[in-house]
Formats: sequence, C-alpha cells, structure tokens
Amino acid sequence: MVAITYVEPSGSKVEINVKEGWNLMQAAVANGVEGIVAECGGSCVCATCHVYIDPERLAELPPPSEDELELLEDVKAERKPNSRLSCQVKANESLLGLIVTIPECQT
Ligand code: FES
Repeated sequence: MVAITYVEPSGSKVEINVKEGWNLMQAAVANGVEGIVAECGGSCVCATCHVYIDPERLAELPPPSEDELELLEDVKAERKPNSRLSCQVKANESLLGLIVTIPECQT
C-alpha cells in the first residue's frame, strides 16, 4: 500500500492507502474522493481525471505518454507544468507520501 494524499477542490485533504499497481484515479474514485469525474473509466480519452502533482515530486513519476500529453491540452481547468491525468499514474512504493491536488473543474 502506498499512502497518497488527495487535496479535494474544497481544500479538504484525504489520505488513502493505494494498492500498488492501481492508478491514482481508480483509488480516488473507489474511496469517494471529490472532484475526479473519470468519464472514460481510465482509458485515456476523456481528460476528466486531471490533477496537479506535488511539483517537488513530479520528476519521480514516469513521463506522460504521447496520448496523455495530447489529452492534457483539453483539460478544463488551467493546465500547469505539474498537470497529469490521474488514470495514467500508477501507485508504487516510490510515490509514498505524494500529494495530489484536484482542480476545481473537470468538465
Ligand atoms: S479517466 Fe478518462 S482520461 Fe483519465
């Protein structure tokens, strides 16, 4: 299990123990975290699972795929250098303690 902290659009923080191999969207939705819509269920076609990764830890994540980069151009909230699609980031031990902030809107 990998402890990940999600900051909901309201500012509330929710810490979840995410199973290794699960993606950050799956864990958020399964635990009722507010603000992730995930219309496509994780198929990397909707861009409604947009999150901001703790900038200091961004480099620890595998880089986004071409598909993810393309979809990030369509996110509703401001796209920032630390924007990622949460369905494309899998939990592993190296992400322990990661903070993920959910933007105010997804659609
Ligand atoms: S859930 Fe659709 S792109 Fe992530």
